[in-house]
Amino acid sequence: MAIILGIESSCDDTSASICVDGKIRSNIIASQVVHQNYGGVIPELASRVHQQNIIPAVHQAISNAKIHKNEIDAVAFTRGPGLLGSLLVGTSFAKAFALANRLPLIEVNHMQAHILAHFIADDKPSFPFLCLTVSGGHTQIVLVRDHFDMEIVGQTTDDAAGEAFDKTAKLLGLPYPGGPLIDKYAQQGNKFAFKFPEPQIQGLDFSFSGLKTSIMYFVRDRVKEDQDFLKNNLSDICASVQERIISILLNKLKKASNQYNIQCIAIAGGVSANSGLRAALNDSAPGLNWKVYIPKFEYCTDNAAMIAIAGHYKFLKQDFVGQDIAPMARMQF
Ligand code: KG4
Ligand code: ZN
Repeated sequence: MAIILGIESSCDDTSASICVDGKIRSNIIASQVVHQNYGGVIPELASRVHQQNIIPAVHQAISNAKIHKNEIDAVAFTRGPGLLGSLLVGTSFAKAFALANRLPLIEVNHMQAHILAHFIADDKPSFPFLCLTVSGGHTQIVLVRDHFDMEIVGQTTDDAAGEAFDKTAKLLGLPYPGGPLIDKYAQQGNKFAFKFPEPQIQGLDFSFSGLKTSIMYFVRDRVKEDQDFLKNNLSDICASVQERIISILLNKLKKASNQYNIQCIAIAGGVSANSGLRAALNDSAPGLNWKVYIPKFEYCTDNAAMIAIAGHYKFLKQDFVGQDIAPMARMQF
């Protein structure tokens, strides 16, 4: 039986989790509200708040898991990708904790961990499967052959899907992070009210910057004609933008499924919390003969449970790193 402490600090959530023999016992997430005042994550502030939050988060995770600190067998931490100052806090804490308690250290790639969050549930996807990983910084279609044998077969050439949500929200005057708010308003809106263009990009890659520009001109022109346009049409705009983002994502996923002849399909990352995307995937599944895997809400956005479960699988392989390990803002699989 292995007990893993997982630490996540790549962006603006400080999180700690305990995984006991592949089962998540606790998952503490301290989100940082300070960034709302600025309309986006301020890296310097994020690392300062991580420093305040990390020790209480780890204490709480250990206490909620009803284990003793001395029972922990290894410390897994997010090495990257992410904000360097934020990653440094988690990495330094993990190294110090491992050194003080004579424990092995496990480095985890944040994007792989989003995918491995699917192995927290009892109903796990079987290999090979395709995972659409959609977050604030990434949009990828990943061919997953094994826990750590993953290949990116499609990715965004500009903005990420989460960025498309957040930047649209900003244009509509909504606070950061706008993704969950667009989702909320979209639920009351008509998704066919306005039509936004689908980017013409070949293969399995994505592009969202054209959509952002078209929304910007749409808002500018409509507000010129009617000052109250945004106020009176907010739900319909949110529903229409969300519909376009979802159709872009699903069309590429269908293309990937055909190309690789894989019908086991998963979604991961913050945008996989979107209710429209979740519903669209569930609705399309029977017609496409897909078996779909959608994570529980708490494992969609950044969390340490996904780091702890990734740590569990690396622990089984005894895949450890030394104290000379450093965080990486950009990190490939
Ligand atoms: O995975 P994540 O928590 O952090 C990164 O690694 O980036 O993803 C955050 C992104 C943000 O862009 C946020 O707006 C988006 O996920 N997001 C959503 C929803 N919940 C979070 N986007 C659309 N609908 C949601 N319900
Ligand atoms: Zn993430």
